[in-house]
Amino acid sequence: MNAEPSQSGRVVLETEPTATGLTVPMWLIAAMLVLLFLGAWYFDARGGWFEAKVYEPYHSVADVARFQPRSGGDAVLLRGKVLYEQNCALCHNPDGMGKLAQAPPLAGSEWVLAAGVNRLIRIPQVGLAGPIEVKGQLWNLNMAAMGVMYPDEDLAAVLSYIRNAWGNKASVVTAEQVKKVRTELAGRSQPYAPDELKKEAE
Ligand code: HEC
Repeated sequence: MNAEPSQSGRVVLETEPTATGLTVPMWLIAAMLVLLFLGAWYFDARGGWFEAKVYEPYHSVADVARFQPRSGGDAVLLRGKVLYEQNCALCHNPDGMGKLAQAPPLAGSEWVLAAGVNRLIRIPQVGLAGPIEVKGQLWNLNMAAMGVMYPDEDLAAVLSYIRNAWGNKASVVTAEQVKKVRTELAGRSQPYAPDELKKEAE
């Protein structure tokens, strides 16, 4: 660039100033095209084109997971939990710890965790009254036949739940087992005394 001082002493540029060496490099353009293509391809493949039916009513992956149908065993325990909270938790407490002077605990209870479920099924079917020892503590109250209105599947579900909640771990109770005990108990409305219940096979 030649610049000569003019007569007035100001420097006059002969040529217009131009930017040099600033052109967008070819590789960058190519990279952007590739990204654009991949983006469009990804959106096309997975975006669902913002169709409401694709997204509603879920707002996140966690939401979707929450509403997925559970596998067989989980579904039974989930059903049992709902029933427990509706019909047993009032006395036995949602955490299974029981309530002072109202109901003994189910968490850790030898009556709940017994290897066999024959006695356990009888308790909510006809009720329980009289002195009972649970985890080394004596209670003497009575429980009505809280499970008599349940279909076999539901009584099985709630008992399966209490055998597998709050750290309890025991086999689940099946509807067939409930049905069998109910057939044996047919017609009985008299609650068990715990001592009498102990005479039944475990
Ligand atoms: C109105 C209060 C009440 C409700 C509701 C109730 N129970 Fe009980 N439950 C008791 C009482 C009280 C005892 C102790 C009875 C006794 O002293 O002989 C008991 C005892 C038990 C026992 C044996 C003792 C133990 O702690 O392991 C089991 C098992 C049991 N209940 C299960 C259930 C289930 C399952 C339900 C719901 C279907 C339920 N109960 C609902 C009050 C209740």
